[in-house]
Amino acid sequence: MTEVAAGTRTVTTIAELRALVAGRRADGASVALVPTMGALHDGHLALVRRARELADVVVVSIFVNPLQFGPNEDLERYPRTFETDVAALAGLGVDAVFAPGVDEMYPRGADGGTTVHAGPIGARYEGASRPGHFDGMLTVVAKLFGIAQPDLAVFGQKDAQQVFLVSRMVVDLDLPVRIETVPTVREPDGLALSSRNRYLGPDQRQAALVLVESLRAAEAAAGDGPSELLAEGVAAFGDHDGVSLDYFVVVDPETFLPVGDDFRGRALVLVAAFVGSTRLIDNAYVDIG
Ligand code: PAF
Repeated sequence: MTEVAAGTRTVTTIAELRALVAGRRADGASVALVPTMGALHDGHLALVRRARELADVVVVSIFVNPLQFGPNEDLERYPRTFETDVAALAGLGVDAVFAPGVDEMYPRGADGGTTVHAGPIGARYEGASRPGHFDGMLTVVAKLFGIAQPDLAVFGQKDAQQVFLVSRMVVDLDLPVRIETVPTVREPDGLALSSRNRYLGPDQRQAALVLVESLRAAEAAAGDGPSELLAEGVAAFGDHDGVSLDYFVVVDPETFLPVGDDFRGRALVLVAAFVGSTRLIDNAYVDIG
């Protein structure tokens, strides 16, 4: 283990992390895990702060998981800012940063071992545009749960379908982990924080606001029912050079299936778009009345 700052240790092997967690557990400590791929921003730090409130020991994993990237996605160019990430985590009193290499996580090769299948919801929305993404994501999350054996794990609402699928996996596979969700952190103008925002040029950064603006328009029309909400949201998205809408959908948060026109109650609006070559997602809860 490498001493990074008082109390924060960077651990690169599964055996080291297990030993660290087991030692603290023997003293009766509770453990929270925050899984990340690094390139940390304030959204991640909000997850860490929540973990710090809820558990005695906080483990943050930093692992850019090759299994959840498609062949034409941004695995190679995904931002890697390890030193600043660890400094920020040390500042928040994180106990351990788990930063394994790919060989440590996937000794049989990235696609040579047992994987988790996300089921039918994993093939919708993000999963339709990114085939295999959720199988890869759930596989690494299941492994991280097995490695860190946390009492709870903290995820961001920004990746709403991810949180839904992780929560479903925990139930379906009887994993003894509580899932805690933290609201999306936004820039002052509303843009949801994302590690991928750093790919955006200044004009694209401005254009990306159309995601949150379309969600707000949908929210404003929620009282008129699902069809009106959808129509207003898509109309507010409009047509912009260099921006293409992937999906705009209203789902029942309990099932993650699209709502019918007679649906009333709390629903979740999901939007995904490409701004240039950067794929962005956002979502908002609405009360359809
Ligand atoms: O949300 C992410 O950063 C990743 O999907 C996760 C949960 C760390 C798994 O690689």
